[in-house]
Amino acid sequence: MCLLILRAKSATMTTTETYSANRGLFTAVVSSNRQIGERFYKLKLEFSGSGAKAFSKFRPGQFAQLDISTIALPELSSIPEDLADASRRQILLRRPFSFTETKVQKDKTTTELLYCIVGPATLRMTTLAVGDSLSIIGPLGNGFWVPHGKKTALLISGGMGAPPLQHLAKVLTADHSDIETIVIAGAKTADQLPFESRLDEISQQLGFALPEFAQYGVKSMVATDDGSAGFAGPVTNCLSDWLKEHGSGYDKITIYGCGPEAMLAQLAEIARGKNIDCQISMERRMACGFGVCQSCTVECRVEDSNETIYKLCCEDGPVFDSREVVF
Ligand SMILES: Cc1cc2nc3c(=O)[nH]c(=O)nc-3n(C[C@H](O)[C@H](O)[C@H](O)COP(=O)(O)OP(=O)(O)OC[C@H]3O[C@@H](n4cnc5c(N)ncnc54)[C@H](O)[C@@H]3O)c2cc1C
Ligand code: FES
Repeated sequence: MCLLILRAKSATMTTTETYSANRGLFTAVVSSNRQIGERFYKLKLEFSGSGAKAFSKFRPGQFAQLDISTIALPELSSIPEDLADASRRQILLRRPFSFTETKVQKDKTTTELLYCIVGPATLRMTTLAVGDSLSIIGPLGNGFWVPHGKKTALLISGGMGAPPLQHLAKVLTADHSDIETIVIAGAKTADQLPFESRLDEISQQLGFALPEFAQYGVKSMVATDDGSAGFAGPVTNCLSDWLKEHGSGYDKITIYGCGPEAMLAQLAEIARGKNIDCQISMERRMACGFGVCQSCTVECRVEDSNETIYKLCCEDGPVFDSREVVF
């Protein structure tokens, strides 16, 4: 409740009340499902009728629960060896995904999902074909918000943290053109960056490494742990260097993060040290996705107290103020 009031007061993107008011069970139709890397796919979904209306309000950082239970496995020969055993598991629970963008055209809403094959559900998703139907619950959770008076948004992604930040970059440039948006995308190696391609050397030197962000005029850098592309080292080190170089005006910056929990903990630490506002999208295994099963708890600090409470990642998050979360 306290979080709800805080967001309604400080956010310009939308309020928590409007987030949950649009949710429902809808059917989407696959309009494309394209492989973009060894383990990465882009899936386009089209909603019509009440689904189109509900998903036209989908905000960056929100998510949807997809029913994968009836989707077929790929042929045995195209199942990666490390997933051979896992692929035989039945898919009983829906799986949570965020979107890289939503587009509203007349009475249709199209959304794009970027996914990585990590287990049985994502493996089955690769067999989705144009015209297939998918049962989807959403929009769910609370997305990123834009505090008043900020001049710079630093979007920091680690591995598969990129999708909601791509969506955020689009919304920031469309609705908040007074805010400069800069992206730093990290991964262990160049192959594990979940993007279609990187631009040529000159574009990279100009600071536009990734076409997914350059299309909105948003600057982007890449960082890889092994130095195989861009900055050599963790994405959080690249961020620290950027902050050192730019030196001041931290109260005008918001850091938005999505990625592995260790990276989010580092982001929270960097932000705390410099008193920068920071929002992080947390990941938990989610059985229901809408506050019933209590499987997705996140330990959070109670303001002005030493106590902590457990909030639900699906309902109170997945996006939290980094000051709240206990790592
Ligand atoms: C809010 C939210 C948004 C997400 N958005 C995306 C997205 O845009 N693109 C994408 O590719 N993935 C996204 N995910 C992760 C996605 O839900 C999982 O990759 C998917 O459920 C895996 O299903 P599976 O059956 O293929 O693999 P599983 O067998 O279920 O999982 C394989 C391995 O992946 C890890 N894993 C899976 N799900 C989670 C989780 N929720 N939290 C932590 N670790 C997990 C575990 O280590 C597990 O052993 C998101 C998750 C959440 C909570
Ligand atoms: S996933 Fe069921 S309560 Fe959060």
